[in-house]
Amino acid sequence: MLEHAAKLRWHLDIVDQPAVHAWALALYRAGERHPETVTDYFPHGAVRAWWPELAEQLKRHAGDERGHAALYTRAIERLGEPVHDVDERDVFNHAIRAHTPISWAIHDGDGRDVIRLKVAHFLAHAHHLEKRVMRSLDYHVEACALRRRDHVLSVVERVHADEARHVRTTHDALIALTTEIERRVIVEMHERAEAAATSAFSARQTRTFLARLGSRVPFARRLVYAASAFVMEQSGG
Ligand SMILES: [Fe+2]
Ligand SMILES: [Fe+2]
Repeated sequence: MLEHAAKLRWHLDIVDQPAVHAWALALYRAGERHPETVTDYFPHGAVRAWWPELAEQLKRHAGDERGHAALYTRAIERLGEPVHDVDERDVFNHAIRAHTPISWAIHDGDGRDVIRLKVAHFLAHAHHLEKRVMRSLDYHVEACALRRRDHVLSVVERVHADEARHVRTTHDALIALTTEIERRVIVEMHERAEAAATSAFSARQTRTFLARLGSRVPFARRLVYAASAFVMEQSGG
């Protein structure tokens, strides 16, 4: 409960200042744009021959993320703030990938089984990443509702609903593609990568946000934040 109150307080402090709020939205936006900056996300073309339904699901998922990026762009503009691209180190996808000891990029000549396992890795990566983004959005939705940031609220509520669906569909597709033994190994790898990335990433974001919030947030509260490091919330929320 205390943890919930502290995290909500953190998001309220962010929402209270348009420039800081815009920066938080820019972080979310960068994650949404990540798939467009790489070639190994949503490989619908490579799976279509064997799993046409999965191909459609991946294609729709990619479209959702493009839509989310556009929604965040508009939300930042509505706050009257400039839209910036953020440093790669501020994109959580990169942080997780840095801790993921495997590549799921599909190459010409990969056979059906290799493709199946690579897509399974991608699905597990996306699943854990999106679960974490959802935990962060839980608080952001609540903070926007309490502060009546209605236009941002409508954006984050819509994104949140889509991410909840993505968390389910990536999980279901992973189950359909893999045996239980395969899945155990794959899931453990991506769970670990997410956990390892989380602490370093959260510490970095906390430092950045504290610098941006500056003295407008009382010193005692900044101390709590500095001790907690939870911008993109850790386990459980
Ligand atoms: Fe998204
Ligand atoms: Fe998503």
